[in-house]
Amino acid sequence: MVMLDENQLSLIKEKLYKYSGIFLNDSKLAMIKNRIYHLMRDTQIYNIDTLLSNIESNAKIQQQFINSLTTNKTDFFREVFHFQDMIDRSLPALFRLNKPIKIYCCASSTGQEPYSIAMSVLYAKKLYKSSIPVSIVATDIDTNVLQEAKEGIYTIDFKVEKFPHWCDIDEYFDALDDGKNPSVRLFKAKNKLKNMLTFKQTNLFSKSYPFIREEFDILFCRNVLIYFKQEDQQEILSRLIDTLRIDGTFYLGHSEILFHLSEKFEKLGNKTFIKIKA
Ligand SMILES: C[S@@+](CC[C@H](N)C(=O)[O-])C[C@H]1O[C@@H](n2cnc3c(N)ncnc32)[C@H](O)[C@@H]1O
Repeated sequence: MVMLDENQLSLIKEKLYKYSGIFLNDSKLAMIKNRIYHLMRDTQIYNIDTLLSNIESNAKIQQQFINSLTTNKTDFFREVFHFQDMIDRSLPALFRLNKPIKIYCCASSTGQEPYSIAMSVLYAKKLYKSSIPVSIVATDIDTNVLQEAKEGIYTIDFKVEKFPHWCDIDEYFDALDDGKNPSVRLFKAKNKLKNMLTFKQTNLFSKSYPFIREEFDILFCRNVLIYFKQEDQQEILSRLIDTLRIDGTFYLGHSEILFHLSEKFEKLGNKTFIKIKA
């Protein structure tokens, strides 16, 4: 593991905050040292001061720095009640409006969340016999996870990952292995999922987002606000909910809150909200 003095450590935290809004507190010291050690190995820059100045001056190294310090934990159908609510309530209501549907998933990591959204949409379309076009925009700041998500190749351990009863994996993924180990399988997402999805890099900490006001019918923002300071969470939330139309549904992570912005929403429970005010 790499040795960091107080000054170097605070420069690392400062730069990460400046470029991503991610705020790391001192309890993360071991994690920071470990991740910086890996970054040094990947960039072949073993001098911390040289690395720090390259983070400022070299866009590629700056991106590698950000990628190295994000936490990308995710799962298929994590907080499954949101996907069930889409199938039971939000999607059938949108199908009745007879207009193309747009969904935004704003910290999509390696893609399990937007692919779970896409599977839920396809299942709901079948269930309600709808042919309404649905598109899903999935963004993240981390270019490595976006690349993995675009590829859509996953090792799925069925002892760990829980899929809803309606989800027949073979309907949505092609097997890439010989199936000899039925509990851990290698799959690739089928084009019918991929065709609904657009992945792009967006930094939630930047002052504006590449979307128009009220562009989306459904917004997923889960397990990302926790990495930001409270005052930044409120600003990010306020920019995000601007992209959601009135009557649109907002699915928020289990340990995240809306602060004063909750007055713009009707609360349905399970961190599910309907936007009622601009
Ligand atoms: C713990 S994962 C959550 C993934 C998914 N939303 C879920 O709930 O399973 C957090 C993700 O937020 C992304 N992230 C962190 N800071 C970000 C920022 N400033 N802008 C966009 N994404 C960010 C990370 O790269 C990471 O992939």
